[in-house]
Amino acid sequence: MKLQARVYEPDDCGNGHFMMTVEEQEEFNHLMAPLAGDPRVLRMRQYIQHGRVTTYDHCLAVARTSYELNLRLHLHAHVGELLRAAFLHDYFLYDWHTRGDHLHGYHHPGIAAGNADRDFHLTKRERGCIETHMWPLTLFHMPSSKEAWIITLADKICSTRETLTKRRMTPETVLHKGV
Ligand SMILES: [Fe+2]
Ligand SMILES: [Fe+2]
Repeated sequence: MKLQARVYEPDDCGNGHFMMTVEEQEEFNHLMAPLAGDPRVLRMRQYIQHGRVTTYDHCLAVARTSYELNLRLHLHAHVGELLRAAFLHDYFLYDWHTRGDHLHGYHHPGIAAGNADRDFHLTKRERGCIETHMWPLTLFHMPSSKEAWIITLADKICSTRETLTKRRMTPETVLHKGV
């Protein structure tokens, strides 16, 4: 099986992703395409999430990492719902550095879920994934599906990486280049 991407090297491009086969990358791109180019979703490019990483790029990275975790750990999650929820998990649509209150960490999952449901009509499972992705910070909103657990873990992996490395993951590296 031909591999499109190389194994991650720390000083390569900073993505921290596993390699994907051509087929896997194509499936990921295909599933992500409807949301990735949607003008409403593209508004997330206006806001910084961590360091120099926009909310859009962070959400794309969480989707990619969720996809990889599901594949590599053989978790057999519902991939369509997993990727939609992962990509919309921080769809709160404001700059939390300037507009969010000091409880942004607690409030934004509910705001993101409400916005995403309004614009994209979430399934019950997708909504649950978004509402619980900050667990354990949101103590009583605990992930209740396989997909929700994957996204919660992927979000922490990506947030930590973005905060520590301050490197910027572009849509090009996540959607097209692989690595
Ligand atoms: Fe979040
Ligand atoms: Fe996040």
